[in-house]
Amino acid sequence: MNTTWGKFYGVGVGPGDPDLLTLKAVNVLQSVDIVAIPKSKLDRESVAWDIAKIHCPANVRLIELELPMTSDQQVLEKAWREGAKTLLNELKQAKSIAFITLGDPSLYSTYSYLLNILQEELPQEYIATVPGITAMAAAAASINLPLATGDEPLLILPSTEDVGEFLNFPNVVLMKVSRRLPEMLTLLEERGRKAVLLTRLGQPGEKIRWEPKPSDFASEKIDYLSLLLVKNDLLGRGKGESKR
Ligand SMILES: C[S@@+](CC[C@H](N)C(=O)[O-])C[C@H]1O[C@@H](n2cnc3c(N)ncnc32)[C@H](O)[C@@H]1O
Repeated sequence: MNTTWGKFYGVGVGPGDPDLLTLKAVNVLQSVDIVAIPKSKLDRESVAWDIAKIHCPANVRLIELELPMTSDQQVLEKAWREGAKTLLNELKQAKSIAFITLGDPSLYSTYSYLLNILQEELPQEYIATVPGITAMAAAAASINLPLATGDEPLLILPSTEDVGEFLNFPNVVLMKVSRRLPEMLTLLEERGRKAVLLTRLGQPGEKIRWEPKPSDFASEKIDYLSLLLVKNDLLGRGKGESKR
C-alpha cells in the first residue's frame, strides 16, 4: 500500500525577536498539524518555542524531541534516530509537521542531522526547508555594522581550538564561543583584532560588549547563545556594554 505522507517543514525561527520570522515561516506555523520542538533536555525550556509560540494556533499539537548537546556520537545518533522515528510515525499518517530551529536551519542546526535520517524514507517532495534570519545577521544589524562589504571575505567559524590561523581574515564570525571565550579573546588580542561580543540577541538578557578583554571573563560564565563579530574597523562605535 502506498503511504500518503504529510509534509515536513524545517522552519528557521530567527535568533530571538519574534518579529524576525519570515512570513513564510509564520504561514507554515499556522497551517501545520504538529510543531516539533527540539530540546536539549525534556525538562528545559526551548528558546525556539519561546520565539515561535505567539505565531502558532493556541491548540496546535506539540511534539518535544530530546536532542542532547553532547559530543558523544553514539548518544547523538541514537537521539536523532529516535527523533526521526517519532516524526516518521506522524508523517506516515499524513500529518504535517514544522520542526522549529533557531536562526536558519542550514547553519549549525540539529535539523540537518535529523533530515538526513528522515530522507532515508521520506520522499524529497514532502520536505521543505524554510530559511530563517541567522544570529550573525541579527548581530550585524543590532550594531549597525556590515558583516562584509566590497571584495572583503567573510569567514564563519565555530570556536574550536584550531581557529588561530583564520583569525586574520578581515571579517570573522565566531559562533558557539561560550566554552572558549577567554581563549578566543586571547588569540584575537595577540593578533591585534577588534571584536564585539553579542549575547542573547532579541531575547531577555540581551547584552552587547564592545572590544571585550580575556580578563573580563576570568570568572564569568558566558551564555551559550553568544557570538563574536571580528572586524578590521569598528568605526569607533559603542565602547563598553549595552543591555536590554
Ligand atoms: C547551534 S548554533 C545555531 C545557529 C543558528 N542556526 C543561526 O542560524 O544563527 C548556536 C550558536 O548560534 C549563535 N546564536 C544563536 N542565537 C543567538 C542569539 N540570539 N544571540 C547570540 N548568538 C546566537 C551562538 O554562537 C550559538 O552558540
